[in-house]
Amino acid sequence: MTIQRILVIGAGTMGRQIAMSCALGGYTTVLQDISGPALDAARTELENWSASRVAKGKLSQDEVDSALQLLSQESDLTSAAKDADLVIEAAVERLDIKEQIFAQLGQITAEHAILATNSSTLPSSKVAAASGRPDRVCNMHFFNPALVMKCVEIVRNADTSDATVNAVTEVAQRLNKQPVLVNKEIPGFIANRMMGAINKEALNLAQSGVASIEDIDTTARTALGHPMGPFELMDMVGLDVVDFIAQATYAETDDEADLPHPLIVEKVAAGKLGRKSGEGFYPYN
Ligand code: 3HC
Repeated sequence: MTIQRILVIGAGTMGRQIAMSCALGGYTTVLQDISGPALDAARTELENWSASRVAKGKLSQDEVDSALQLLSQESDLTSAAKDADLVIEAAVERLDIKEQIFAQLGQITAEHAILATNSSTLPSSKVAAASGRPDRVCNMHFFNPALVMKCVEIVRNADTSDATVNAVTEVAQRLNKQPVLVNKEIPGFIANRMMGAINKEALNLAQSGVASIEDIDTTARTALGHPMGPFELMDMVGLDVVDFIAQATYAETDDEADLPHPLIVEKVAAGKLGRKSGEGFYPYN
């Protein structure tokens, strides 16, 4: 099937940048959120980002103008969903809310529409049944910042059809992303499993006094060629998100090794969530 219209649910950090990526890919895109202020904040951020792209000579004025024209915002889910060929859900990471959204989408979207979730912790099989069309449901997991990071993990559940995988792969390619196919649902998929292993080791090294967080980050950047060190990255992702991912993984595996690291628990309890709260492992202005 040919996808022309995309609905992105959730105007948070991920949803707004996924929506802009879709508009830049030439798709008519609706960004939906029940919060008007969240939609307004998203629009402002994307307009500022567009202006800086033009100022840096990375995109032309025409390219950003046509993307911003293709991108509309909507607070009512039913009217936002009516013409969508593909829905990418990037709402809050709560199963009850996602189940409710997918059940509603099963009723209000066209029969052919594909329903994808950007969730990194909830595999699509958890919401597929609620939608009533499990063969057209999968994960499309983008990475933060979604306008920059190339990878999109496409995770199929046991019922996801080949046609669905092919259609969302084509969309990811048109967004100039690099799709990778995850054939089996597994906690953390590919990237978060690898990132989790690195983070755990970095946290253990810091906790045992082997090296400072600054030197561990410097090592990751200058010895391993990572763009950011693990502590810088955790601060960017949000320590509450790191904590939540670990808890969700533990809930699936029942393996105590997957529980949130004590240093993360300590930071979250102190309200130090990373860049978003002004302090995490590092202070931010
Ligand atoms: N939004 C949009 N664009 C951004 C951005 C943001 N928040 N942050 C940086 N950029 C853009 C800049 O505009 C710049 O673009 P340009 O080079 O085309 O002009 C480019 O990214 C590089 O930015 P900077 O020069 O300011 O800084 P860096 O070179 O340090 O790059 C970075 C910033 C892209 C964030 C880079 O450090 C990086 O790739 N870090 C690793 C990010 C990562 O691992 N993300 C995955 C997190 S895990 C995840 O998302 C999974 C989830 O389930 C938790």
